This record gives sequence, C-alpha cells and structure tokens, in this order.
Amino acid sequence: MEFFEAVANRHSYRGPFTDKEVDPDDLRKIVQAGIDAPSGMNKQTTSFVIVNDPDLVSQIAEMHESNKAFRQAKAFIACTIDAEPEKIYAGCHFQIEDCSAAVENMLLAIAATGYASVWIDGWLRTDGHAEAIGKLIGAPGDKVVRIILPIGVPKYDPRGPEKQPFDQRAWFNSYGG
Ligand SMILES: Cc1cc2nc3c(=O)[nH]c(=O)nc-3n(C[C@H](O)[C@H](O)[C@H](O)COP(=O)(O)O)c2cc1C
Repeated sequence: MEFFEAVANRHSYRGPFTDKEVDPDDLRKIVQAGIDAPSGMNKQTTSFVIVNDPDLVSQIAEMHESNKAFRQAKAFIACTIDAEPEKIYAGCHFQIEDCSAAVENMLLAIAATGYASVWIDGWLRTDGHAEAIGKLIGAPGDKVVRIILPIGVPKYDPRGPEKQPFDQRAWFNSYGG
C-alpha cells in the first residue's frame, strides 16, 4: 500500500477481528517500523514484546472488559519504556515521545499490511493492567508497559472520526492564517 493511502486508511479499530492469524513475518515488519522511528537524542528507549503465543494472547485479551479488538486480538505488541526515565536534556526525558513515534510508525505499518489496531494507553494505567501485562510478558521491574497494540484482520472496514478541515488546524507562516 502506498504511504499516503496507509495514512488515510489508518483508523482506530475497536471492532471484531476475523479468525485469520497475523503472519509472524508481518509482525516483524511492523515492529521494525517501530524500531526505525526517531527518538530523542537517538536513545532508542522503547522496547517491544510481540505476543503471538495463543495462550498468552488469550490471557492478555480477556483482561479487557469491553474492547472487542482487544478481546479478539490475534497478537499484541507491548511497548515498554523505563519505569523511571532518565532526564537527558534540559531536565526532560523523551521516552513518552519516543514510544509514541514508534507506535505511530507501527500503526501505519499495521494498516499497510492489511491489519487493524488501536492505541491502548489509558486503560493500561488503570487497575494494575500495565503491571499485570508486564508480569505476563516477563518485563523486568525497571520497565513499564506504556502502550499496547491489539492486532488482527478487521471484520469490518475501520472507520475513524472525521478530522477537522486543514484550514482549521494548519496554516502557512502565521498561526490562524
Ligand atoms: C495518546 C493516545 C492515547 C490513546 N488511548 C486510547 C485508549 O486508551 N483506548 C482507545 O480505545 N483508544 C485510544 N486512543 C485512540 C484515539 O481514541 C483515536 O486515535 C482518536 O479517537 C482518533 O481516531 P482515529 O485514530 O481513528 O483517527 C489513543 C490515542 C492516542 C494518540
């Protein structure tokens, strides 16, 4: 799929998946896209655990009460960062941004390879979900699962909310045009 087509076809998908498995070669390609993302001062702080063992997939999947894509995922990609990120520039760390850049690259790669996903973030931070998943995937104590992506072949066409028109969000040369 051509780049701008993949961008336009990426939508958060929370619906059901088909029974089709996710090809491990595609998972590798998708995660390579995450690895290829930029990172603050090139620290490459995000690590990725690809979950495609069916037992492990179902243990993670059943933790979510409502999100169908999560509950029916055929694979997950768990993205970990440091639990206590080191401040590396002007008192800041960039691990959230590093992780986000990697995730967006992966979401585009997921769309480009015919799968669908959704950025799962808020839910991870509630009721010990990140900790429980970290334990299941053997993440060391100094790492935290920051974002997780459920992956599968969507049963329905992914459709996202309308984006605001270009002119309301972007201008040449001066804010507001
Ligand atoms: C930082 C961030 C956190 C998000 N967290 C969640 C989440 O926890 N659960 C969820 O279902 N969607 C989550 N999303 C997906 C957004 O709801 C979604 O991107 C937005 O509604 C726009 O839809 P689109 O992705 O189809 O363009 C998150 C997106 C971002 C960028």
